[in-house]
Amino acid sequence: MPELFERTSINSLELENRAIRSATWSAVCDQKGYVTDRAIEFYSKLASGCLGLIVTGFQYVMPNSAAMPYQMGNYKDEMVEGLRRLADEIHSKGGKVMGQLAHAGSRANPELFIEEGEVWGPSAVPEPATGRAPKEMTIEEIASVVDAFGSAASRIKNSGFDGVQIHGAHGYGINQFLSGFTNRRRDEYGGDISKRYRFLGEVLEAVRGSVGKDFPVFIKLTGADYYDGGLVLDESLYVARRLEEDGIDCIEISAGSRGIPSGLVPSRPNILHIEDEAYLADLARSFKETVKVPIITVGGIRSIEVISRVLSDHFADYVALCRPLIREPHLLKRWKDGNTEKSTCISCNGCFETGLSGFGVVCKLDLEKEDK
Ligand SMILES: Cc1cc2nc3c(=O)[nH]c(=O)nc-3n(C[C@H](O)[C@H](O)[C@H](O)COP(=O)(O)O)c2cc1C
Ligand code: SF4
Repeated sequence: MPELFERTSINSLELENRAIRSATWSAVCDQKGYVTDRAIEFYSKLASGCLGLIVTGFQYVMPNSAAMPYQMGNYKDEMVEGLRRLADEIHSKGGKVMGQLAHAGSRANPELFIEEGEVWGPSAVPEPATGRAPKEMTIEEIASVVDAFGSAASRIKNSGFDGVQIHGAHGYGINQFLSGFTNRRRDEYGGDISKRYRFLGEVLEAVRGSVGKDFPVFIKLTGADYYDGGLVLDESLYVARRLEEDGIDCIEISAGSRGIPSGLVPSRPNILHIEDEAYLADLARSFKETVKVPIITVGGIRSIEVISRVLSDHFADYVALCRPLIREPHLLKRWKDGNTEKSTCISCNGCFETGLSGFGVVCKLDLEKEDK
């Protein structure tokens, strides 16, 4: 039976246990996306917490594709120095690190643009949360984004990271190409799901071409984006099969986006009881039953009991956590050392606000305590 504290491997990556820090924007880079001393300190703390793997917050692959302030960038060779410092620090603390790569598509924030330019998307569909319609990308612009993913993946490898994760969820660029809601194109990049997969297939090919077959390449994939007329489970299962054929090593299943009527956002609030936990595990199981590559479930995992059940009942091969590690970066170490009380994160999402304030993503409860 799979156990949480058990050594495993995926491609050339060896993991000490089955707990992964899911990609989390941490607002610790500078305004151009360069790694800062604060970022090193932030990740150093996480790295000494006994996690099997740390995935960085999303690194934007082109200068005009950031969604959040102080996000990590990966669009220039000069950025390798900082990325290498980061990887070295994490390794020195015994951790493993993977860089998450993304283009925000229509969710890029023009206030954060580094160069003159426009917001790009697969089609000129207003982004649900901002109401802003992007410019529909030309074929040449699509090719430039694909190339940018390939170059960013090379930088990840050259910086000494242990792998790459492609961000294919949460309503960002790749999700937008996959979804019938945001992709209304009539050329070879739009139409049925086999055509809407084309962009992601090219991104994977570019990434794999840059890093070689032995370097771990994961994806965080939306199992369903819950847009009206958006990507549904059957289509996403098709995408997973294609990804497997095209050489992906592991798939993390997430779902939802902001600005959708159902409110089914990726970071769901109020996960306070054991029955609310692991809210995407059923979705993950559909993928586990469809493909052979390992599956990670993320979303609402707060207790070691739930993790044991997810693993033993084969909902997923790995679990990923985000907010519990903002609240307590050493949660895994605490569990490993024998204190198996569940995470004290109350899933209030206050950490998004702290990140926007410019002082890094920290738990709001800690700030409130300091104020008293
Ligand atoms: C502050 C914050 C930043 C996040 N940044 C990212 C990100 O950069 N990339 C990503 O794939 N997901 C991101 N997420 C989503 C989480 O990785 C995760 O999918 C979601 O919060 C559900 O997991 P949880 O219940 O363990 O928090 C972020 C979530 C939060 C709260
Ligand atoms: S602010 Fe703290 S308690 Fe609230 S979701 Fe974020 S980490 Fe959890």
